[in-house]
Amino acid sequence: MREQWTRSGFLLAGIGSAAGLGNIWRFSYVAGENGGAAFLIIYLLAVIFIGLPLVIAELAIGSKGRNDAVATLRHEAPTGHWYIAGGLSVVGAFFILGFYSVIAGWALKYFVGAADGSLWAPQQLNAYHAYFEGFIARPFEPLGWQLLMLTLTTAVVAGGIRHGIEAANRLLMPLLCLIVIGLAAYSLSLDGAEKGLDFLFTPDWSAFTRPAVYMAAIGQAFFSLGIGMAIFLTYGSYLDPKQSITKSASIIVLGDSLLAITAGLAIFPAVFAFGIDPAQGPELAFITLPGLFSQIPGGRLIGTLFFGLLAGAALTSMFSILEVPSAYLARRLSCSRRKATLLAASLSFIAGIPPALGFGVFEQVTIGGQNLLDSYDDAVSHLLLPTGGILIALFTGWGWGKRRALEAAGLDNSKLGELWLLCLQYIGPLVILTIFIAL
Ligand code: PHE
Repeated sequence: MREQWTRSGFLLAGIGSAAGLGNIWRFSYVAGENGGAAFLIIYLLAVIFIGLPLVIAELAIGSKGRNDAVATLRHEAPTGHWYIAGGLSVVGAFFILGFYSVIAGWALKYFVGAADGSLWAPQQLNAYHAYFEGFIARPFEPLGWQLLMLTLTTAVVAGGIRHGIEAANRLLMPLLCLIVIGLAAYSLSLDGAEKGLDFLFTPDWSAFTRPAVYMAAIGQAFFSLGIGMAIFLTYGSYLDPKQSITKSASIIVLGDSLLAITAGLAIFPAVFAFGIDPAQGPELAFITLPGLFSQIPGGRLIGTLFFGLLAGAALTSMFSILEVPSAYLARRLSCSRRKATLLAASLSFIAGIPPALGFGVFEQVTIGGQNLLDSYDDAVSHLLLPTGGILIALFTGWGWGKRRALEAAGLDNSKLGELWLLCLQYIGPLVILTIFIAL
């Protein structure tokens, strides 16, 4: 018999999967570069009309199929080629986990450094540029931290759904929520915090005319929820059939967005209170913030909590990414979960070597002027996830059969069901295609 989540365990694991580096590290710098509040509005619209319908769709397909992504799509669509979307997810997972674990490794290094004091040695606001650049240019140190994060992930996922992934999320998620709320409260109490709130909640209307802002916001919605890569499809295959899919999806999406906004409230008020430019790019969390922590009262504790949050949130997302290829390999190779997990993690580590070395050994290698890590991120958020998302939307909206889809989602005979299908049939695919073309 296939393993099954407990109800609350599934919700925690689902929020844990969605909430990760995307909500803290990525959300803050992408919002910073794309006009703050204007970006936030488009992001939330994309979450409601594209993200939520896709999470429901993935959970519905997964809970019907009760198998890995490829087998499920093959079974549910025996005549089409939809299983290719499953194959894309399995291959995509190696690359996502590859580059994701690089940044997760940085977060772990900073957490350990903040706790043992070595991160605070530079002691100046502007010293962290050299600190960070020095660290990521070394070959073996970033690789080592990355490997450590992957090893932790493998140990948990190899433990199974209930005793591995669910148990770890039960421990980590409440802790992470407490930390992010505490950090936001602290940041909001600083003098000059209002400017951060203005930035996050008062739109700069001109940003609405820039297509790049739309792409960034939609790309962020995909990345932050982790949709289009069969993650919810795979997690959904272990769902208790009696658990409501729409309710669970709504709770997960709401939890993810609240976590992103709370993380924004932890970061921007402090950034503005210190007169720092928020459009710093991916370095915001690793250069700007440690400098800031080194200057504020209690900053060492705050910094330790922040990087602990970052590493912990990354870990709970890594479980779900690793589960996609692990479930596939376990079936395909008829091997144990342990072996499949170890193999999938090793392949991900290999896929992650180029972006990990993109700042030192492979510094000269750029794609379209970008280093390897940013190229991976771009390819994943702006190409792989939206493409996977379109395929899942089209399959559910057109390929699966209206009645089957509505029934699987528990939305038959309801107005909401009609709206859900409309989002999957037209709104999602058209919006994503338009943006592909506009860029
Ligand atoms: N959603 C996760 C985050 O926000 C990352 C993720 C991306 C997970 C893509 C799965 C797929 O960090």
